[in-house]
Amino acid sequence: MSGSGGGKVILLGEHAVVHGVPAIAAGLCDGATATTRDEQPAELHVEPWGVLARPGDGSALGAALDALLRARRADRLEDERAPRDGSIDATVALPGSAGLGSSAALAVAVLRALDARDGIARDTERSQQIALAWERVFHGNPSGIDTAMALAGGLARYVRSPAPGERALVPLPSARGLWLVVGHSGEPGSTREMVARVAERKSEPGWDTTLAEFADVVSQGEVAIERGELAALGRAFDRCHALLAAWGVSTPILDAMCAEARAAGALGAKLTGGGGGGCMIALVADEADAARVRKALQATGREAFETTIAASPGTIAASTETT
Ligand code: PMV
Repeated sequence: MSGSGGGKVILLGEHAVVHGVPAIAAGLCDGATATTRDEQPAELHVEPWGVLARPGDGSALGAALDALLRARRADRLEDERAPRDGSIDATVALPGSAGLGSSAALAVAVLRALDARDGIARDTERSQQIALAWERVFHGNPSGIDTAMALAGGLARYVRSPAPGERALVPLPSARGLWLVVGHSGEPGSTREMVARVAERKSEPGWDTTLAEFADVVSQGEVAIERGELAALGRAFDRCHALLAAWGVSTPILDAMCAEARAAGALGAKLTGGGGGGCMIALVADEADAARVRKALQATGREAFETTIAASPGTIAASTETT
């Protein structure tokens, strides 16, 4: 039996989302797929990484698998079959340590494959809690946005601790599709280290003001997405990148790539995900600009690809903003 989980790009609000500010993310079509093989032993084979992990083998992946299997065994409703472990073959179609949510995508793919084999129909909230057990091994203190997006995809706003009666992940209406260029710095980024670095700033005097600025950027971005105001969304990208850089999670290469993308016609550019390396994203007006920005990044020796985020239903009419 097989299962899959999606990758994601965070459009606005990464890192601040760990501290309670909403963030906006979009699912990527690429992610991870997993297929169950045998009932025993409990092990995970991942391509193209060429790794084989088992619970207790001393590797982070083995520890994550162990955490997921334990959480899965513990989460059983009365009328449900007993979850069984097993060996799994998985393929990840995203670069790791890149800010694109590869580990969460893998967790969700593994969980879904095992659940499909055992005939367990787990709802999103229960799946999220189990995938988070895995994610904690890699990220220490994850907000949950990666696993929520790996489960749901689409374009959504996420908040770590929603008010009573509200959902953590809410689909966002968008007036038009978005063109993005994703560029890889070529350096791996450690989300765990970057999240810890930001947490050290909590006692600094400007902490609350910065969180309020993040919240403002995210809310402006949400309105811009809803109305299809690309220039305003691009400005929100730039502001978000500046806030993240001030928190010390950007790198000279990511800064240079964002500047390169803007110079090539992007409406805005920012690092995406954990930073410290990994990827940046640039918002562009259309397909032609996407190709130009992608080529400009590739000309500096970076890997880059184009992606689109479809307009979503429930949209309000686009405003007349000219870009
Ligand atoms: O680096 P990624 O793809 O795992 O994204 C991390 C997003 C952060 O906001 C930096 C951390 C989190 O748990 O939300």
